[in-house]
Amino acid sequence: MSRRGIHGAGWRMRQACRTARFSGGRTLSIAKKQVAAVEEIQTLTPELKSFIAEWKDQPGNLIMVLHRVQQHFGYVPREIAFEVADLLGTPLAKIYGVITFYHFFKMTKPGKHTIAVCMGTACYLKGGQQLLDELEALLGAKADEVTDDGEFSITAVRCIGCCGLAPVLTVDGEVYGNLKPDQLAGIVAKYRGK
Ligand code: FES
Repeated sequence: MSRRGIHGAGWRMRQACRTARFSGGRTLSIAKKQVAAVEEIQTLTPELKSFIAEWKDQPGNLIMVLHRVQQHFGYVPREIAFEVADLLGTPLAKIYGVITFYHFFKMTKPGKHTIAVCMGTACYLKGGQQLLDELEALLGAKADEVTDDGEFSITAVRCIGCCGLAPVLTVDGEVYGNLKPDQLAGIVAKYRGK
């Protein structure tokens, strides 16, 4: 599977943007992407084990399994990588090779809420970088980091298909557009502690 092929969530986001109505800075009612990790669970569930058994002998199984694992946990925990290696009969080094090659896969637990700032061309030209700078200052964490309290992950992403609303960011899949940096504190406050 190509790098591009594993970014299905981005495609779904673009579809949501095309169909959603929006007015300045308000949230869109789109389905939330379930990014939140299942806390404290560091072992494969029976459902995941059966998914792995289904894919064991199929081509491209490693990507599919890791994708499913990350969908469940929000990242690929180390212990889970060991279990996957055992069940697929794949060397652990190969699993880590895939995880580190594809930016999509995460090896650390994400924050409770994921804030994704669009740095695609339209958003960049309309102030995406300023949004990212403000967010980093506000949360005391950089892009690809988690805040000390574990509440937020920040990530910079490519175009999510809402260019008409640039600059745009999403929080747990909810889209905020036409943003100014001074609106970010209010958006962050809405999610903090939830
Ligand atoms: S460039 Fe940001 S949504 Fe397209």
